[in-house]
Amino acid sequence: MKKTLICLLAAAMILTMNLRVYANESLNNVPVNKEGRVIDPEKPMVALTFDDGPSALYTAKILDVLKENDAKGTFFVLGSEVVKNHELMKRMVKEGHQLGNHSYNHKDLTAISDEELYLQIVGTDDLIENATGQRTAVMRPPYGRKNQAVVQGVNKPVIIWSLDTLDWENRDANIIEKNVMENVKDGDIILMHDIYGSTAEAVKRIVPQLIEQGYQLVTVDELYKYSGKPLVAGQSYNNAYK
Ligand code: NI
Repeated sequence: MKKTLICLLAAAMILTMNLRVYANESLNNVPVNKEGRVIDPEKPMVALTFDDGPSALYTAKILDVLKENDAKGTFFVLGSEVVKNHELMKRMVKEGHQLGNHSYNHKDLTAISDEELYLQIVGTDDLIENATGQRTAVMRPPYGRKNQAVVQGVNKPVIIWSLDTLDWENRDANIIEKNVMENVKDGDIILMHDIYGSTAEAVKRIVPQLIEQGYQLVTVDELYKYSGKPLVAGQSYNNAYK
């Protein structure tokens, strides 16, 4: 009798373990991430990225648009601006956006010492952690300028871009909108700056149009995760084209 009971118990345990394995396997096939968002890897995806903020004037406007449209973005923030905008940093995290490191004060990282590079990156992560409780998993060098020492030294995946809106130069919502809508394709990483009113205005127009065209607006991490291309520290990335 005792033996039967032990056998039954063992059988039940094995069954439960198997069920757990199957449950995990089936979960991996369902495109729902930890925030409960549905992302279909078969459908087109782009990552909107915003550099040089947060900005007390414009970042909240962009966050409002993303929220209204259930879209996520990636904010490559500067340490010098993080210290002035803790509430915006907290809001980004709370609303499911990804934080990226863009250095402390926008120096050309190819022109500084290893020690200064360390301070620019690790010091900025410390400031981001003070504001939000989390550190960054990705980095974008100012001006997109990089060399082997920078890519290795930052010790994170380095994210460049594939679609430049040139928003910093044109400061014109019509041109920014046109640059995106006429050139966008599946797997793009789109470069914008959340420090201009013209960019905030363009985002208001671009986000609904991209969704209407079937694009899923995802973070950089999501873009690579659902493209089946894991991001690796010490390498640089421009797009997630199939
Ligand atoms: Ni920048």
